[in-house]
Amino acid sequence: MNGPITFVLGTRPEIIKLAPVIHTCRERDVPYTILHTGQHYSETLDSVFFNQLELPEPDVNLAVGSGSHGEQTGEMLIRMERVLEDMAPEVVLVQGDTNSVLAGAIAASKMDVELGHVEAGLRSFDRDMPEEINRIVADHVSTYLFAPTDGSRRQLLDEGIPEARITVTGNTVVDAVYRNQEIARRRSNVIPELGLRGTEYFLMTAHRAENVDDEGRFREILQGAAQAGQAHGAEVIYPIHPRARDRLEAFDLEVPDQIRTIPPQEYLDFLRLEAEATLILTDSGGVQEEACILGVPCVTMRDSTERPETIDVGANTLCRPDADTIVRGVAEMTNADTEWENPFGDGNAGGRIVAELVADRNPVVQ
Ligand code: UD1
Ligand code: UDP
Repeated sequence: MNGPITFVLGTRPEIIKLAPVIHTCRERDVPYTILHTGQHYSETLDSVFFNQLELPEPDVNLAVGSGSHGEQTGEMLIRMERVLEDMAPEVVLVQGDTNSVLAGAIAASKMDVELGHVEAGLRSFDRDMPEEINRIVADHVSTYLFAPTDGSRRQLLDEGIPEARITVTGNTVVDAVYRNQEIARRRSNVIPELGLRGTEYFLMTAHRAENVDDEGRFREILQGAAQAGQAHGAEVIYPIHPRARDRLEAFDLEVPDQIRTIPPQEYLDFLRLEAEATLILTDSGGVQEEACILGVPCVTMRDSTERPETIDVGANTLCRPDADTIVRGVAEMTNADTEWENPFGDGNAGGRIVAELVADRNPVVQ
């Protein structure tokens, strides 16, 4: 390759899910640079993951921070264009569906740089979600579409994307879980530290704008989770994302006694909390996948999911965020048979992604 692969990332899930690809570049001596947009900047959502996943510091941090969608994305685009001109990458790689992905996709596609999209072809079919717009745009301007499953590949084909651009790789989240779950078992003390050893507990995350920015929905989620926990004699542990913490305070919502809020957790601690939980309640994309990989039943508190594979294998159920529906969903999933197959691949997605990018640049001489 002449120029580097530039990883454009900006949020917690992108750091976690691009880590296996970055590690593969390092192992195979493939040149790369890391461009951080600064969308996430709090230590608990950002630098803690670079440290724990043993990633190098970003080469550049655009330090864009928080703002409205337009402000945040626009500011990223303006700053990114200048930096990409200097970095002169051959390929820009983005992952997932955040505003950082949208900015990276637009910036690269307006320059003479190829774009690769990791986790291509996911669809919730709900265009009210900012993430749905971001992933559709990224897919349609990408040269390399790394689809995690055959279902996502079919979706891309249905939308008219040429077959030659698509590679089914599995999801890099599997690489991350396989690589770190044993390390987490050895190093993390979170279970005894939180007094959870030998207890039944539910793990909850809720941070999506459509849930926590809506006072009524957020209240129903808290009530539903608390009632479900009570019915099963399980405390609900809720590592709370800063957006949700802000909204909780702004709406002056009371957290029921059954729910214990804790700060956002480091990756290894969070993996332990997931693995040992009786059940997981979430609106996160990555957490739905991890629950499925770890064999823990999941209740997704949303109107739609772009991870239907988790439902198809029996690992997850989708619940409209109202208290009664959540309670019913939890009752259903606590009785679920947990012997499902992981639909997200074998944990070698990072290797496949790098192999595809490198092979296209160094074709075998006949
Ligand atoms: C973003 C993604 C969402 C993803 C999530 C991962 C978009 C549109 N949304 O949502 O898809 O699931 O990241 O966690 O890109 N804040 C802090 N510290 C930070 C970052 C944010 O306190 O480091 C607070 C600020 O009050 C900010 C709010 O969280 O206004 C929302 O941050 P933002 O990056 O806009 O979106 P997320 O909710 O994190
Ligand atoms: N995660 C974490 N600590 C937490 C909550 C989540 O390390 O306190 C990890 C989790 O393991 C998963 C990722 O963050 O890999 C999911 O990110 P998030 O829910 O913020 O975003 P989404 O996947 O919904 O875009």
